[in-house]
Amino acid sequence: MKTYLVTGGAGFIGSNFIHYMFNKYGDDIRIINLDVLTYAGNLENLKDIENRDNYTFVKGDICDKETVSRIFTENDIDYVVHFAAESHVDRSIKNPEVFVQTNVLGTAVMLNCAKAAWEQEDGSFKEGKKFLHVSTDEVYGSLPEGNGYFYEDTPYSPHSPYSASKASSDMLVKAYMDTYKFPANITNCSNNYGPYQFPEKLIPLMINNALSGKKLPVYGDGKNVRDWLYVADHAKAIDMVINKGRLFETYNVGGHNEKQNIEIVNIIIETLQETLDDSDSRKALVTKDLITYVEDRKGHDRRYAIAPDKIRKEIGWEPETMFKDGIKLTIKWYFAHEDWMKNVTSGDYQKYYNDMYKV
Ligand code: NAD
Ligand code: DAU
Repeated sequence: MKTYLVTGGAGFIGSNFIHYMFNKYGDDIRIINLDVLTYAGNLENLKDIENRDNYTFVKGDICDKETVSRIFTENDIDYVVHFAAESHVDRSIKNPEVFVQTNVLGTAVMLNCAKAAWEQEDGSFKEGKKFLHVSTDEVYGSLPEGNGYFYEDTPYSPHSPYSASKASSDMLVKAYMDTYKFPANITNCSNNYGPYQFPEKLIPLMINNALSGKKLPVYGDGKNVRDWLYVADHAKAIDMVINKGRLFETYNVGGHNEKQNIEIVNIIIETLQETLDDSDSRKALVTKDLITYVEDRKGHDRRYAIAPDKIRKEIGWEPETMFKDGIKLTIKWYFAHEDWMKNVTSGDYQKYYNDMYKV
C-alpha cells in the first residue's frame, strides 16, 4: 500500500485530488493531508472522506520543519504531492511576503525533509519514492495574442510576485534533482476550474456575484486569455505523472482550451440562464448588464496557453472534460452547495472583496 503525503489538501485542487484518488484507489492507498488551513483551506471540502481509516489530516505549516520531519519519521511516505501554496495573483500584488514565505521557504522545508527521509548512506535514494511538485504555467510569463505556446523548455519569465515565488520553488526542485538526483517531477498546469474553488478566482467569483445580482468585475478590456482545465483532469494528470512520469522531468498540463475572460463571463451568464428555473427569482438578476469593466490588474499577463504534447505522448494523458460540459458541472455543483458558498463568503471574505474591488 502506497502512502501519499499531500500538502494543501484542504484547498481547491488538493481536495479534488484527494477525492479523485479515493474514488480511484479506495482502500488501496493511504493519504496524509498536511494543511495549515489558511483562508483558502477548508475542511468542509473533505467532509465525505474525513472518517476513512486510510486518511489522516494533520493541521500544520509546511514551513515548520519539526512538524514536517515528524510526519516523515512516523510514516513511510512513498509520494509527496506538494500543492500547499499561496495561490491568488491579486493577493500577491497586495502582499508579496507571505508568497515568498510559503511558496519558496515552505517548498525548501518540504524538499529537505523528504531528502532526509529518503536518502541512503551512499547518497542514492530509496527505490520508488517521488516528490511531485505542483506548479503553474504562469512561471513562463505571458504570450502574445494568438501566437505560440508554453513548452517544457520555454524560458521562465514570471511577472507577478505569485508567479515569481512559484518559479523560485520550481528552481529549488530542479536544483535538488540536478545536485542530489532527488527523485522528483514538476507539473506546470494551466488555469483550473471546478468544485470547491474559492470565490476570489474568476469563475466562482462570477457565479457567486451573478446569483446575488452583483456587478461582474472584468479587468481591463476583458480580452486576456487563459487556458482552462477541469480540475479532475488535473488530478488525473498528477496521478499519471506519479505512476508513469520519468524522474527529473517536467510535464506541462493543459487542455487546449483558450478563452478570453469576457467569453468566460458571457458563458457563465448564459449557462446560469439555462440552468435556473423560471420560478427562481434569481433568473431576472442574471443578465449581461451586470458586466462591469474595472481597472486592470497590475502587470496583467495577456495570454497563457499550454502545449501538452509531452504528457500526451509519453504518459498518455488527455483531458476528458470539454469546457461546455465542465462549466455546467461546476455551476450545478455550486447550486447544490449553496451553504458551502455562504460559509466561505462570510467573515474575512467580505473585507477582502471590499478592499479588492473598492466597494
Ligand atoms: P488554494 O489556494 O485553493 O489552496 C492552497 C492550500 O494550501 C489551502 O488549503 C491552504 O490552507 C494550504 N496552505 C497554504 N499555506 C500553507 C502552509 N504554509 N502550510 C500548509 N498548508 C498551506 O490553491 P489551489 O488553487 O488549490 O492550488 C494548489 C496548487 O496548485 C498551488 O501550488 C498552485 O500554485 C498550483 N496551481 C494552481 C492552479 C489553479 O488554477 N488554481 C493552476 C496551476 C497550478
Ligand atoms: O494559470 C494558472 C494560474 O491560474 C494558477 O497558477 C493560479 O493559482 C490561479 O489563481 C490562476 O491565476 P489567474 O490569475 O489566471 O486566475 P484568476 O482566476 O485570478 O484570473 C483569471 C483571469 O480573470 C485573469 O486574466 C484575471 C481576470 N479576472 C479575475 C478576477 C478575480 C477578472 O477579470 N476579474 C476578476 O474579478
